[in-house]
Amino acid sequence: MRIDILTLFPEILESPFNQSMLKRAVNKGYVEINLHNIRDYSTDKHKSVDDYCFGGGAGMVMMIQPIEDLILKLKSERDYDEIIYMTPDTKVFTQKEANRLSMSTNIIILCGHYKGIDQRIRDHYITKEISIGDYVLTGGELAAAVVVDAVVRLIPGVLTDETSALSDSLQDGLLSPPIYTRPADHNGWKVPEILLSGNEKLVNEWRENKAFELTERVRPDLLED
Ligand code: ADE
Repeated sequence: MRIDILTLFPEILESPFNQSMLKRAVNKGYVEINLHNIRDYSTDKHKSVDDYCFGGGAGMVMMIQPIEDLILKLKSERDYDEIIYMTPDTKVFTQKEANRLSMSTNIIILCGHYKGIDQRIRDHYITKEISIGDYVLTGGELAAAVVVDAVVRLIPGVLTDETSALSDSLQDGLLSPPIYTRPADHNGWKVPEILLSGNEKLVNEWRENKAFELTERVRPDLLED
């Protein structure tokens, strides 16, 4: 999988992709992540990337030219499954969407800044918009890091058996049941007896029940569809 991230602040994204599981996925060749600085594509003599908002109002708007030139350059080099724009003004990202994106070959992720990007980029180039939650960040970079992390760990081979995504929270539409490790008794705080029983069938039933109870209590919306 190849991911091209278009941003005005590539430095924000250098660290998250250089640690732990994502670093391993990159080093092992499961994913190639390329950061592109939108400002490098500005043809303006001041290297401008934004301008005032038509119709007035506070805040600057990222202009078409550098973003369009960069997208057209990338599209001339390969086909993309999706050109994604990170924005709070759309539906919220889910595990289902992460699963879907993990099957892509090439994707572009465009990060907005200031008030956002000129609507015509969204109308003519963007194929998917993603929000990571109903709150506003200063830019799309941290949101893009969240999406890349959630997607890359699902690429077959990235996770080992011990970290398998099959037992993830939300993978089956439920939250995860409680988990415990040694000691079985910490100053009187005991691990539920059934987990020490060695009876796999009972353990699985207990986990399913706990997952269901927790989901019903704190995220009943997940059980609706
Ligand atoms: N950019 C700013 N806020 C965002 C959010 N909540 N999700 C995605 N991109 C964003």
